[in-house]
Amino acid sequence: EQVIKIGLLGLGTVGRGVYRILQENQDSIQKRVGVKLEVKKVLVRSLGKDRGINLPEGILTTNLADITQDPEIKIVVEVLGGINPTLDYVLEALNQGKSVVTANKDMIAEHGQRLFAAAQKNNCDLLFEASVAGGIPIIRTLKQSLAGNQIEEVFGIINGTTNYMLTKMTQDGSDFADVLQEAQAKGYAEADPTADVGGYDAARKIAILASIAFNSRVPLNQVYTEGITKITADDIAYAKELGYVIKLLGIAKDRPEGIEVRVHPTFIPQNHPLAAVGDVFNAVFVRGNAVGDTMFYGKGAGELPTASAVVADIMDAARDIIRNVPGIIGCTCFQTKPVLDIGE
Ligand code: NAP
Ligand code: HSE
Repeated sequence: EQVIKIGLLGLGTVGRGVYRILQENQDSIQKRVGVKLEVKKVLVRSLGKDRGINLPEGILTTNLADITQDPEIKIVVEVLGGINPTLDYVLEALNQGKSVVTANKDMIAEHGQRLFAAAQKNNCDLLFEASVAGGIPIIRTLKQSLAGNQIEEVFGIINGTTNYMLTKMTQDGSDFADVLQEAQAKGYAEADPTADVGGYDAARKIAILASIAFNSRVPLNQVYTEGITKITADDIAYAKELGYVIKLLGIAKDRPEGIEVRVHPTFIPQNHPLAAVGDVFNAVFVRGNAVGDTMFYGKGAGELPTASAVVADIMDAARDIIRNVPGIIGCTCFQTKPVLDIGE
């Protein structure tokens, strides 16, 4: 029986979900890929922590080399988060010839170019479907299914934590700090939730989507970013009175004079499809010059929805290894257009 071995970096919310899906759906995954996929080692910080899942003895390690130096491990799945030391870990994995799957939008948005170059140099896949909109397959859609279009705009709700918070604050007047705590307890928020409420997480995601959609690298520092920290109960009540709801949107448009990219809270008419996107759900609109308007909807954060996207990437990386064609799928990200200065 042919087996492809996987090294998992991280066993928190997403890592646990990936491990569970690979165990629970093992048979159907094996049938679809053609080989068995098996997690050989898992990197964590603390060996003694209760993980809430059954793990084989000796699978956990605190030593990266147990994964990157193991010739049997062909795919490294990065679900640690952050940039330090994660970027170095991922570069090490790529330089050791491992294909990498990541859910890390911070790292892709800020260091994508360097990582794609390393992947290309080492003939490895670098896949990142889970980095934007959790379980919604939006990266693959832009890179592959809509690749024949000139994409004119991409916009939507791309942060689950803030959508969960705004939904609860609108429905029952919940307090900002209380609903943020709930989102953290559910595993939706980033390790530092400032990234969610400050709009930076959505900014990273819209920078990634815009780069792929417009085939043009969109630097993170050129995304106008405003979060939900200034939204008060009065703002929400005022919006309601006027027939609107407040949503945090990421918006990217390809204009003749340059690319417009921004994140900010927006008044949405109550009868607009985005107004009905509640809880942790995300929704992304894409307008292409051939396909017209499309909309993608699903859970934007959480253990299994996010892991669903990671596992699909692992399966693609495994297929490429079997066919002996690992390499970058898609993203060239050339700087071809200026990004407009939106200002305050
Ligand atoms: P998390 O629950 O905080 O888990 C992080 C895991 O990484 C933990 O197991 C931790 O080990 C381990 N870890 C962190 N730093 C480490 C280090 N230096 N050395 C060894 N192990 C280390 O995070 P998460 O929510 O799963 O998120 C992981 C990534 O997925 C992030 O990039 C996040 O942005 C992205 N993501 C998350 C979601 C979501 O809904 N949560 C959705 C989409 C994308 P210990 O357990 O020993 O502490
Ligand atoms: N913190 C992120 C969110 C996780 O709430 O959308 C998914 O990327």
